[in-house]
Amino acid sequence: MRADIEKILVSQKEIGEMVKQLGKRISEDYQGQDLILVGVLKGGFVFMADLMREITIPVDIDMIAVSSYGASTRSSGVVRIIKDMDLDLTDKHVLIVEDLVDTGLTLKHLKELFNTRGPKSVKICTAFDKPSRRKVSIEAEYKGIEVPDEFIVGYGLDFAGKYRNLPDVCTLKKEVYTK
Ligand code: IMP
Ligand code: MG
Repeated sequence: MRADIEKILVSQKEIGEMVKQLGKRISEDYQGQDLILVGVLKGGFVFMADLMREITIPVDIDMIAVSSYGASTRSSGVVRIIKDMDLDLTDKHVLIVEDLVDTGLTLKHLKELFNTRGPKSVKICTAFDKPSRRKVSIEAEYKGIEVPDEFIVGYGLDFAGKYRNLPDVCTLKKEVYTK
């Protein structure tokens, strides 16, 4: 797996520090509130697992599964809910936990969907942000690290289902995409 890596873009150590800072901010901002963290599967689960342990206030956790890319590196623009979340959002503060905001299509759709369920607020926390690729206007209230317009893997992010288990965020060698 390591042989497929072109370069490390964000190291495990940098990611750890980013997650700590976000956890601290979220703990302060939502002090005394009913907060539900909703992780976006599959990519968001690694970040979710780390982030929730940096949050020092009580939170409920849920997951939603959406389809994104198949085996391509570009978004189809079609957002499909594969598994909905279980918890009731009525009068709760919702924080969507996502690995990466790229075109913004997924989060725009999820935000609109959750807003129909009577929450007190819906905000977004993303580990990585690729603002240069945005197709719809959407901003994460909590964002970790900005990345350039390159396809990245690791820390939950995949290419064709693989490389999610890399602890760093990396780019892949060209031949990996073309083989
Ligand atoms: P969006 O709807 O285009 O903002 O992105 C949806 C999802 O596509 C992200 O949350 C990622 O899971 C995935 N994605 C976008 N860009 C990349 C990438 O560079 N590597 C791996 N997954 C990506
Ligand atoms: Mg994702």
